[in-house]
Amino acid sequence: AGAAGLALGATGGALAHSALTGETATTGAAGSAGALSSLGSTQVAFHGDRQAGITTPMQSKGHLVAFDLAPGAGRAEAVALMRRWSETARRLMAGETAPTADTGIALDAGPSSLTVTFGFGHSFFDRTGLTARRPVALDPLPEFSGDRLDPRRSNGDLWIQIGADDALVAFHALRALQKDAGEAARVRWQMNGFNRSPGATAEPMTARNLMGQVDGTGNPKPSDPDFDKRIFVPGSGPGPAEHAWMAGGSYAVVRRIRMLLDDWDKQSPQKQEQVIGRRKADGAPLTGGTETTKLDLDRLGPDGRQVIPANAHARISAPEQNGGAAMLRRPFSYHDGFGEDGSPDAGLLFICWQADPLRGFVPVQRKLDRGDALSEFIRHEASGLYAVPPGPRPGEYVGAHLLE
Ligand code: HEM
Repeated sequence: AGAAGLALGATGGALAHSALTGETATTGAAGSAGALSSLGSTQVAFHGDRQAGITTPMQSKGHLVAFDLAPGAGRAEAVALMRRWSETARRLMAGETAPTADTGIALDAGPSSLTVTFGFGHSFFDRTGLTARRPVALDPLPEFSGDRLDPRRSNGDLWIQIGADDALVAFHALRALQKDAGEAARVRWQMNGFNRSPGATAEPMTARNLMGQVDGTGNPKPSDPDFDKRIFVPGSGPGPAEHAWMAGGSYAVVRRIRMLLDDWDKQSPQKQEQVIGRRKADGAPLTGGTETTKLDLDRLGPDGRQVIPANAHARISAPEQNGGAAMLRRPFSYHDGFGEDGSPDAGLLFICWQADPLRGFVPVQRKLDRGDALSEFIRHEASGLYAVPPGPRPGEYVGAHLLE
């Protein structure tokens, strides 16, 4: 693994370590004596049509943090906060120090693909007198029968997703943004996640989750003709004018999904594959082929039963089973230690992106909630829905079109 990482550094090649290939990340000079490897020097643009951290390849470390505006803080404080946060994000993503009193945690490292992504929750709009400009897409998600949600770890006025390929760079950003909040906002909840490190596999591969499954195969690809339409809010269209500030933005559904790994690990490999409908070794459908072969949902086995079971997760969640509902899943795994009974508090910080949650997460989760074979091995413990505005232009701060 180390050799693969060094080889990338020596050639200065751009990293493509995920099935997600979206915006271009720039790599600084690598290969000369003493230069950063391409992993450290890889920089993701802060400015642009979209915020970073949506189509950016998944990073190996992630922090999610939600804030509530402090009592008495309103729109003016929110504007000042978004200005401070945007400036900090811009600088840190460029590999610079924080604007004020940098902690030094990330000194010596490059930006390491750092992304900072900002979103607004339902409650933000009432707090800032902007209720009329709250999109209906932010209406609270319906309750699902399997939900075991902790309200203290759900929702929030403001949400930040931080991703980086270095743990110190990621924590540095989290700490700087928390300090920026000052008197204006308080942390409501915070979660930490991880993914495979770039270079850990001999070639770029789809990541695995903590159940050991190849996870992310069915994701829409930025090269799909309808990708933008499904993932990002259209620039113009029939929507009310007061929601135009979201054009080019996206909605993030965040679910902390605990995996009941002790139960899962007791299942035979065959049973585990039936639950998903795909092979564990390589992610290929149970109806054959390779990871990228389409599922043959109609195929019957010699016993006359469907090869991909009726309740298989990949069958129920497939877009063709949901009127085309699609989302971009870009999760982090998490592990928060072991309980007194020895069971791991681990699972998926499930994050999915879509132009409209009612044509993405909601219909799919409704169906999964009713009959997904995976349900008995997972538990949804926290939930959030955030409006993630478009990327800022140079000189702008994130959310300016809403707040100005
Ligand atoms: C597919 C795992 C929760 C939506 C898959 C696949 C796996 C998987 C292994 C097959 C490979 C792939 O296409 O990525 C999990 C696990 C979950 C979870 C372990 C919880 C811990 C969810 C939730 C949703 C969802 C909550 C949405 C409501 C999808 C979709 C696909 C998928 C849309 C792709 C289907 C396709 O395009 O054919 N999931 N999943 N998953 N999952 Fe999940």
